[in-house]
Order: sequence, then structure tokens, then C-alpha cells
Amino acid sequence: SAELNPTLLALDWLLGVWESDEPGEGSFSSIPPFRYNERLHFSHVGQPVINFMFNAFNAENKKPMHRECGFIRIQPGGNRVAFIIAQNSGLVEIEEGDLTGQQLTLHTHALARTSFAKEPHVQQISRVFQLRPDGKLEQTVSMAMEGGPLMQHLHITYRRSS
Ligand code: HEM
Repeated sequence: SAELNPTLLALDWLLGVWESDEPGEGSFSSIPPFRYNERLHFSHVGQPVINFMFNAFNAENKKPMHRECGFIRIQPGGNRVAFIIAQNSGLVEIEEGDLTGQQLTLHTHALARTSFAKEPHVQQISRVFQLRPDGKLEQTVSMAMEGGPLMQHLHITYRRSS
């Protein structure tokens, strides 16, 4: 396997495969609460880029649900991080934010969707990844619809599976 590009050293704590340890909690004002499992893959091929895949499944019947994949880039010599994301819902997105220790706080920098995307349209997404002292990874996602407030949609913790 390729040697880690030194640009990525500050993000090496993300690399590998993560599995939700207990079902994540989904919510939003307009939908009934739900539970899901999710598997995250973060890998690299020696480029100054992390490749990722996030695959979510219904916690009860295990059916595939939301999927995202993309790339993570870090500003050379800085702590600015960008996620370049494609979602199976038809959304593409760039989220950017700052790395503080082992916590990453991201906000939508650019967003586009298919011409036939159903409403309501998401306008803003914010998420926090944090490696906790107990070794678990935590992700919290909030979003805002057109004209609406930023509200939590997802909260989940993962344990490292490889
Ligand atoms: C609903 C966005 C990730 C599961 C929704 C809705 C939006 C949305 C806009 C519709 C809300 C409404 O009808 O008012 C997003 C975005 C995500 C994301 C932007 C990622 C950043 C996920 C993940 C899951 C999930 C990881 C895990 C299974 C659901 C479910 C609903 C929903 C079950 C309600 C039923 C439905 O509308 O399909 N989401 N979502 N979402 N989301 Fe997400």
C-alpha cells in the first residue's frame, strides 16, 4: 500500500473503516425519527487526498439507504479542509471547515442538485466529526431547508472496524 502523503498527517486519525457501534439517530422537524447503521471507509493511494464512502442502512431491515462518496483535501500548510461530496439523493456538495486537533467542523461552501430533485430543497449542511478520547468517532449533521433554520438531522458514533 502507498505511503501516506505527508499533507494528510493531520487527518490520519480518520483513515480506515468505521462501523456504527449502536444505531444512529435521524430526525428533522418534518419527518418521523428513524434509526440507521452506517459504515465509513476512508482510504488513500499516496496522493494528498483522502477517498471516502459512507453507506447507511436501515437499522431494522438492513436495507441500503443514504450513500455518499467523495474526496477530502487539506490546504497545504494550513488547517482548512474540504470535502467534495456526491450523494445518492442527487446532491453534490463541497463542505469546508477548519481542523482543530481531532475535530472537524464543516459547512456547505457549494451545493447543486438534479433539475428534478424533490422539494424541500436543502440550502445548508453543517457537520462535525470528532475522534473522542474513548477512540470512538462521532458525526453530527445539521441542515437547513430554503428559508428554514439549521436543525439536526443525524447523530451517530462509530467504532473502528479496521
Ligand atoms: C429525509 C437530507 C443524510 C435518512 C431527508 C430530507 C432531506 C435530507 C432534505 C427530507 C426532509 C423533509 O422531507 O422535510 C439529507 C442530507 C444528508 C442526509 C443533506 C447528508 C448530508 C441521511 C442519512 C440517512 C438519512 C445518512 C440515513 C439513513 C433520511 C430519512 C429521511 C430523510 C430516513 C426521511 C424519509 C425520506 O424523506 O426519505 N434527508 N439527508 N439521511 N433522511 Fe436524510
